[in-house]
Amino acid sequence: MSAHSEVQPVIGIVGGSGLYDIDGLENKEWRKVETPWGDPSDELLFGVFEGVKCVFLPRHGRGHPIPPSRLNFRANIDALKRAGVTDILSLSAVGSLKENLPPGEFVLVDQFIDRSFAREKSFFETGCVAHVSMADPVSARLLDVLEAEAKKLQISVTRGGTYLVMEGPQFSTRAESELYRSWGCSVIGMTNMPEAKLAREAEMNYATVAMVTDFDCWHTEHDSVTVESVVKVMSGNADKARRLVKAVIPVLGQKRGVDLSAERALDHALITAPEKR
Ligand code: ADE
Repeated sequence: MSAHSEVQPVIGIVGGSGLYDIDGLENKEWRKVETPWGDPSDELLFGVFEGVKCVFLPRHGRGHPIPPSRLNFRANIDALKRAGVTDILSLSAVGSLKENLPPGEFVLVDQFIDRSFAREKSFFETGCVAHVSMADPVSARLLDVLEAEAKKLQISVTRGGTYLVMEGPQFSTRAESELYRSWGCSVIGMTNMPEAKLAREAEMNYATVAMVTDFDCWHTEHDSVTVESVVKVMSGNADKARRLVKAVIPVLGQKRGVDLSAERALDHALITAPEKR
């Protein structure tokens, strides 16, 4: 624990749709980070915000060229790890599966259901196999800070909820949407898995800000999700996300927090050594 707490926090921000930069960053530099898994979505933006080291990665690349199923999640997380990131704030646009989570609401999810299927999901696929715990995939410490700062900024925020990750790129059918609602899911999106799983394997603290853009297609009194309605709410959400990130970074930077479930994930993992031939 002491070794971890001596390390200065470095805040990683994975920007979803609508968030491509952090204004106010000093000593800004876009830098390519190489990984054994291939290229991350883009160069990483290194900088310092109010004395705190930050690294920003636009999840879909600048200009949004990469669809969810083509994201190289392993390269993205590995690049952030190599950049020294300790805490990841992941922002993503989602649809709402609950009446009380309207477009514009920010949901600080604490669980995921991973229904993605066409993605590389582990760093441990060949050689050594490791099974890390995903029982609590999100850092409560990061959620505490996000919730407190959102409230100060009067951003409407809901703490807790389950994020259903679908493969996409098409949106859900009404039957799928109703199925996920019957499972009690709060929001649906295409991007936070396997991101959260890989962050855990890399022993990094992780939290998601799920920014609601639409009611998905289950809501009979709302039009089924259209690109126009999503884009309109997204720009309002991006503005709030920028303000929230800028409020949260200085707080997280004050003191190195240590969440053992993430930062000791491999100590408690079930690990199988490679078979001797
Ligand atoms: N991202 C934003 N809205 C979404 C929805 N309704 N389904 C999946 N991903 C989304």
